[in-house]
Amino acid sequence: MSDTVLAARGIEVQFGGVRALRGVDLEVRPGQIVGLIGPNGAGKTTFVDAITGFVPCNGLIQVAGREVSHQRPHARVRAGLSRTWQGVELFDDLTVAENLAVAARSLSLRATVRDMIGRRSTDMASILETLEDVGIADLAHAFPTELSEGQRKLVGIARAFAARPRILCLDEPAAGLDTTESAHLGTQLRRLGDQGTPMLLIDHDISFVFGTCDHVVVLEFGQVIASGAPKVIRSDPRVIAAYLGQESDPGEKVQA
Ligand SMILES: Nc1ncnc2c1ncn2[C@@H]1O[C@H](COP(=O)(O)OP(=O)(O)OP(=O)(O)O)[C@@H](O)[C@H]1O
Ligand SMILES: [Mg+2]
Repeated sequence: MSDTVLAARGIEVQFGGVRALRGVDLEVRPGQIVGLIGPNGAGKTTFVDAITGFVPCNGLIQVAGREVSHQRPHARVRAGLSRTWQGVELFDDLTVAENLAVAARSLSLRATVRDMIGRRSTDMASILETLEDVGIADLAHAFPTELSEGQRKLVGIARAFAARPRILCLDEPAAGLDTTESAHLGTQLRRLGDQGTPMLLIDHDISFVFGTCDHVVVLEFGQVIASGAPKVIRSDPRVIAAYLGQESDPGEKVQA
C-alpha cells in the first residue's frame, strides 16, 4: 500500500437495514485518475462519504500511507483528502474568489492566523493561483449567478483544490453539463491530474469517465463488480449487464 495516495480496504457502511457498502477495496496511485461508476444507489456517494469521514464505516482508510480511518473530516482534509459534493453549493452573494476564501479560511488554523496578522494579500494570491490552475482565473470577480453550470462546477472543484489535496474526490462533476462543457471539464481534470493531483472521479457520463480516467472501478449493490482500464471495463460483460444495459455505444450519456 506504500505507493498509494488513497487505499481503502473492506469498507462497510450500513444504513439501518440497508448494507450500502459491502467490503469495498479501492486504491488510487500517484498520477492516477480513478473512476467510480455504477447504477443509481450503488453506493458511490456513500463510499466518498465514508472515506472522507461523513458517514461511519468499518474498514481501513489510508492517505499517503497514513491511516485516517478514525479521524474526523477536517483532520482527513489536513491529511490531504479533499472532496466536492454532488450538488455545488456556492454562496451567491460572494464572488468566485470570495467563495474560495471562505473555504480556505475554514480549512486551517494557519490561514486564520494569517488573516489575523493581516496577510490577506497572500491569501488572495493563492486563491488566484488556484483559479488559474483550474483554468478560471478570469472569473475571480464574477458572482456565481453570472456563471454557466460548467463554470460553477469548476468553482466547486477549485474550492476543493484550494486545500492542495493529495487526492481529490469529485462526486458527479459533469452532472448537468452539456457535451462541450463535460469535454472541457475532462481536459481540465486531466491537466490537474497530470500536474500531480490524483483523483477519484464519480460520474454517470460514461464517455467523460472513460475518456478522463486511467482506471475504473464499478460498484453494484455496494460491491465492486469490476476494476480495470477503461477499455477493459467497457467490454466487461458484467458491467454491460449491470450498468450499461443494452446500449450498443457505452459512450452515450447515462442519466442519473
Ligand atoms: N443517509 C442515508 N440513510 C439511509 N440510506 C441511505 C443514506 N444515504 C444513502 N442511502 C442508501 O444507500 C444506498 C447507496 O446510496 P448512494 O447515494 O451512495 O448511491 P450512489 O451510487 O451515489 O447513487 P447516485 O448515482 O444516484 O448518486 C442507496 O440504497 C441509498 O438509498
Ligand atoms: Mg451519488
